[in-house]
Amino acid sequence: MSELMQYIKRASEVTDATLEKLLPAETSYPNSIHKLMRYSTFAGGKRIRPCLLMASHEACGGQFGDKNVLAASAALEMFHTFSLIHDDLPCMDDDDFRRGKPTAHKAFTEALAVLGGDALCIAAFEILASIGRVDIISEIAKALGTSGMLGGQVVDIESEGKQVSRETVEYIHHNKTAALICSSIRIGAMLADAPSEVLQKLTFYGHHVGLAFQVVDDILDEESTTETLGKDAGSDRERGKATYPAVCGIAESKRYARELTDRAWADIVFLGEKGRVLHDMAEYIVTRISLFFLCGLFAVVYKE
Ligand code: IPE
Ligand code: IPE
Ligand code: MG
Ligand code: MG
Ligand code: MG
Repeated sequence: MSELMQYIKRASEVTDATLEKLLPAETSYPNSIHKLMRYSTFAGGKRIRPCLLMASHEACGGQFGDKNVLAASAALEMFHTFSLIHDDLPCMDDDDFRRGKPTAHKAFTEALAVLGGDALCIAAFEILASIGRVDIISEIAKALGTSGMLGGQVVDIESEGKQVSRETVEYIHHNKTAALICSSIRIGAMLADAPSEVLQKLTFYGHHVGLAFQVVDDILDEESTTETLGKDAGSDRERGKATYPAVCGIAESKRYARELTDRAWADIVFLGEKGRVLHDMAEYIVTRISLFFLCGLFAVVYKE
């Protein structure tokens, strides 16, 4: 296993152990919503955001496994899982598979999926509050709100079936995906009390890898299968989504993803060897085919 894969495995394991401790027990009343929260969280995500948070924290001189970093990583993964549960709803992307399993509204009910998503988001804020850093709560609230993820999701939904400009797709992707990824990286640095010049450079890096991540997600939706992706492939084309392949074709999308990675690398040159994991994460984000299938960390449980 490569060094990066070992890092991802280690970061995923400590994040999962923290989530295990922090999420309400399935046996606590009302059981159904707690079951759903655990079902979606532990269905087998790649844990990219916790990995980036931890890598950024270490690059800024922090310790792997720091208590606040673990809490923040678990919270980030809960915010992300909340966004996926809602993104899959019939009123949104209307998808049936996620992380190799039936989506939350398919496995439970639509009402419970709405409530379970809300519950993950709220519980994640409670976890962040326990760290006692208002700047971090404010950071994530901005990344999730209407000038971040929710804004991107609004324009994504409102652009379905329409011809949109490349600028609009860039707006959507920056907000619906890059905002939370960038915030994960910033929070890692903030927890290491990184100086503002460092935070600024990591913010550029975060925007570039975050955007590359969504461009690659669009490409994978076109080129992969549901089995290897663990989620419904081809669903963007079916719904007439505003994606990079739709506005500029697959070849240009791949070229752009590579360009964004080069820019991300340039942003963190100043870190030198301390930036090794962040450097390799950027490469992995652009070259991943379907980690879900390939890296062997997560079982493909979806069978037709
Ligand atoms: C999927 O994110 C949604 C996007 C923002 C593209 P991931 O690809 O990180 O999903 P998981 O966590 O591995 O399931
Ligand atoms: C999802 O984008 C972004 C958020 C969940 C905020 P997509 O709709 O492209 O994600 P997938 O492909 O369903 O994972
Ligand atoms: Mg979507
Ligand atoms: Mg979707
Ligand atoms: Mg997608």
